[in-house]
Amino acid sequence: MDHKKYIAHKIKAEGLSEEEICSAIALPPNPEMGDYALPCFKFAKALRKSPVVIALDIAANFSSDDVIERAEAVNGYVNFTVNKAALAREVIDEVLASGERYGSSEEGAGRTVCIDYSSVNIAKPFHIGHLSTTAIGSALYKIFNFLGYRAVGINHLGDYGTQFGKLICAYKHWGDRDEVQKGGIHAINDLYVRFNSEADEEMEREAREYFRLIESGDREANELFDWFKELTLEYVKGIYRQLNVTFDSYAGERFYTDKMGPVIDELREKGLLKESEGAQIVDLEPYGMPPCLILRSDGASLYATRDLAAAIYRKKTYDFYKCLYVVAYQQNLHFKQFFKVLELMGKEWAKDLVHVAYGMVSLEDGAMSTRKGKVVWLEDVISRCREKAYKIISEKNPALENKENVAEKVGVGAVIFGALYNSKIKDIVFSYDKVLSFEGETSVYVQYTCARANSVIEKGGVPASYVASDLLPQEAEVVKAVASFPQAVKDAAEKYEPSIVARYAVDLAQKFNKFYFDCKILTAEGDKRDFRLALTAAALTALRNALTLLGIGVPEKM
Ligand code: ARG
Repeated sequence: MDHKKYIAHKIKAEGLSEEEICSAIALPPNPEMGDYALPCFKFAKALRKSPVVIALDIAANFSSDDVIERAEAVNGYVNFTVNKAALAREVIDEVLASGERYGSSEEGAGRTVCIDYSSVNIAKPFHIGHLSTTAIGSALYKIFNFLGYRAVGINHLGDYGTQFGKLICAYKHWGDRDEVQKGGIHAINDLYVRFNSEADEEMEREAREYFRLIESGDREANELFDWFKELTLEYVKGIYRQLNVTFDSYAGERFYTDKMGPVIDELREKGLLKESEGAQIVDLEPYGMPPCLILRSDGASLYATRDLAAAIYRKKTYDFYKCLYVVAYQQNLHFKQFFKVLELMGKEWAKDLVHVAYGMVSLEDGAMSTRKGKVVWLEDVISRCREKAYKIISEKNPALENKENVAEKVGVGAVIFGALYNSKIKDIVFSYDKVLSFEGETSVYVQYTCARANSVIEKGGVPASYVASDLLPQEAEVVKAVASFPQAVKDAAEKYEPSIVARYAVDLAQKFNKFYFDCKILTAEGDKRDFRLALTAAALTALRNALTLLGIGVPEKM
């Protein structure tokens, strides 16, 4: 139930609309004051009464009931207290009935959301810089599906560019078929790094020629290119499997080769294309931006040209409600520019394109660069987390069965959660010790809480029925937190911010642990025991659903 709406509906105050009241209702700073508070200050002018008087009037006219048991005026605020026992019954019943669907809805039914995420570059390492787009995009994908939308996950592969010419050139000079086949992406990366440090003028010229050969459809060049692409994809798909990440489409930049012509024609017909120093551009000066480059003077297309074609193709193919691009904020200008160009082309749906920008991830020991070959591969970060998790788990619980499996969930969870926990626009420094701390605001902490709840349920079972009455504050806090899960999921989708779900999970875990340590569960008597077991089961479901939406597994035991 939406308590704010419920309260707003019941308040009778002349001159104030229900919506106005509803949007003003806030959460009081501490739960002892009540569960909701309505500040009356901003109504004073319209009602020509002091906030204190308005609050007193509202409280006096409010008839309490089974849902809201008290309304009290304090210094210009009205504080409302929810009937916790009634709320507990409502929430626990709902959670236990819906299980893994708790928090889901059909609000997005009939709407498609395209999500462009991860979008790795072929033949380049999948490094820690790709972690955020992969983790955030994948969580949004799961969240939108959970809310009834049809999410389409798109990996807009970077499979177009002069680096492929360089790679073929390097392979021709130094490569060995078997070695590359066996070494996969690492061998490819070595060749690329070597090219960048050793290539002379002549090799640079050859590389340009190879690139031209790929473009003109030369068989040998394209076979090599396809092979490099295949090796890269094999590798990244292995990482996606580990991270529980899926895609519906791998249409990369090259896919749009034959789809750019019509876009360029349309730009020209609409009088948007201008020549500038031999290149074709769209002038964006009136909008305070540098021009959007469409064709270089040698006729080659650009990143933006391919993105224009991709957006038009996606609209035609998926008829999206929104199309999200989960890409680092370094590309802010690029997205602003090509969104603007689409708007100028008269595509009214350009307003539905969203750049979901996020900050940089670096490791404690500094940044990386592909060209110098100093790069932190994501696979190494994952393995290291898995190994560390294994060590920690073995120390904590030497008798635990399936340690490998638990370490996998804990290690992978730590990597994902590390990338998701902060609001996405912040730059983050990834620290192994921090993401694997049992005490911090981490996935391990949440997973451990789940294992704790699970063990309580294993011993006590979920009661067929229970009675909720006279809740202790610790119990009431858990009830309220469980009840707020659906809203957290909705907020995360609305703000494109999976960190809301991550923070929700930590908050609920903290409240559950307080309840667990302060209140006896298994040794409580009669009705209290049943109620606490039911509440434990409900909290476990909400925690598990939250982690699942983030792509994080939940071990039964830890
Ligand atoms: N491959 C690009 C990069 O690594 C990201 C592509 C993002 N998607 C897009 N439609 N531009 O920078």
